Amino acid sequence: MRYPPEEDVRVWVPGCATGEEAYSLTILFLDGLNARDRPINLKVFATDVHRRSLEVAGQGLYGEESVADVGPERLRRYFVKRPNGYQVSQDVRQLIVFAPHNVFRDAPFTKLDLISCRNLLIYFQPHAQRAAQSLFHFGLKAGGILFLGSSESPGALTADYEPIDEHYRIYKKITDGRTTHETIKLPLIRDFATVPNQGRQPLRPSVPDTQLLATYDRLLDRFMPPSFLVDEERDLLDVFAGAERYLRVKGRRPSHGFVELLPETAKAVVGGVLQRAISDWAPVRYSGLDVNVDGVLERLDILIEPVNNPRALKRQLLVRFEPAPDSVNTESRRDQPPPISGENLAAERVRSLEAELSHSRENLQASIEELQASNEELQATNEELVASNEELQSTNEELHSVNEELYTVNAEYQKKIFELEELNTDFRHLLDATDVGILFLDANLRVRKFTSKISDIFPAAASRHRAQNQ
Ligand SMILES: C[S@@+](CC[C@H](N)C(=O)[O-])C[C@H]1O[C@@H](n2cnc3c(N)ncnc32)[C@H](O)[C@@H]1O
Repeated sequence: MRYPPEEDVRVWVPGCATGEEAYSLTILFLDGLNARDRPINLKVFATDVHRRSLEVAGQGLYGEESVADVGPERLRRYFVKRPNGYQVSQDVRQLIVFAPHNVFRDAPFTKLDLISCRNLLIYFQPHAQRAAQSLFHFGLKAGGILFLGSSESPGALTADYEPIDEHYRIYKKITDGRTTHETIKLPLIRDFATVPNQGRQPLRPSVPDTQLLATYDRLLDRFMPPSFLVDEERDLLDVFAGAERYLRVKGRRPSHGFVELLPETAKAVVGGVLQRAISDWAPVRYSGLDVNVDGVLERLDILIEPVNNPRALKRQLLVRFEPAPDSVNTESRRDQPPPISGENLAAERVRSLEAELSHSRENLQASIEELQASNEELQATNEELVASNEELQSTNEELHSVNEELYTVNAEYQKKIFELEELNTDFRHLLDATDVGILFLDANLRVRKFTSKISDIFPAAASRHRAQNQ
């Protein structure tokens, strides 16, 4: 990979244990950078959940057997000989931040050039492996390198990497797409709550007692002739007394249009009569329509009457199918409107079809307008979502960099504390070795510290002070 010299090379070693992996990589990077005469812009984050391991890692002190495979040149260059082994030199140690970090709980490091995660994934269950793999994918830059253990692989994200060396499990991230891990659950930005129906007529009549409704249903079944309730747009609203036997329901998305549900032979006539009833808003009758019902030809009279219900949103009509007069008493029909003639029906039908067509056109236009409005709303919502997402991402990145700084500062403090403790111990040993009785007092002349020799002069006081401080 090519890097501008001013750019940091960022490395993360999750599950670094006692630090050997992180030090080895850092040394390799130093070799490479020195050979190319490049500035040492290297930042290595080495993390683990096990704090004791991190303490060992921070000291970088290893026994002879641990460095047995390190060549003499590197040993000389990057290690300092100590009485109990070899310590990684300060120059190397200061390039690495060792920090406690749980891969599953803490935010991953980001914009990384290399993640070396060896022999960590193998200890996880498959679902945890997948989660860790998508975190690593998230953390790597496009073109970043993933270095895994000899029995590990990018798993489900294999397609997001190009193998550089399959044998040594080195992969290069080739996609910049986000993985499932990065799914951000945004709160619903838009309030889609229904706008109150201020000042308008209630859309529906108040709901009556449901028990009473059931009673009405019984009465309707008993006293209503076979009939249909339709609205002025010819939509079917209700069916009474078994009139459903005249309907034909087609498969797949059946129509609500009443005329469409009728047998083919009845469509033209009923459509025409209905058109006349709607345009005159008066009862209309047609005599002698032959309809084939379940293989039996029935001769029917069609009677359509407007139903005046001021509370209904659309005007409604009752369509009655009655056996033709030759089979019933004609007396009972005296009060009914005279039947319209068959010749007029073709014209009625044409008018009805034209009315339906213009109604469909209006509906289509309204639907197109609604669709356009929804589309605009969707676009606006989408833009808002994209903007929020971008904001979240930049906040996230800021948090990451603050987090990293905290890790660095924390690691520095830990180092200082360790150095102070060492100094303190050295100082105490030095004072004890001088064989001189020394008392350290504070501004109120209270004893802060003393050497062991002082007990020869103040034996009782010294032992009491020691007891107090224990
Ligand atoms: C087998 S060691 C691997 C050491 C090192 N990577 C190597 O190959 O030499 C696994 C390390 O992963 C650490 N570990 C286990 N679960 C972890 C987690 N959820 N997050 C971070 N480190 C974890 C363990 O504490 C242990 O030090």
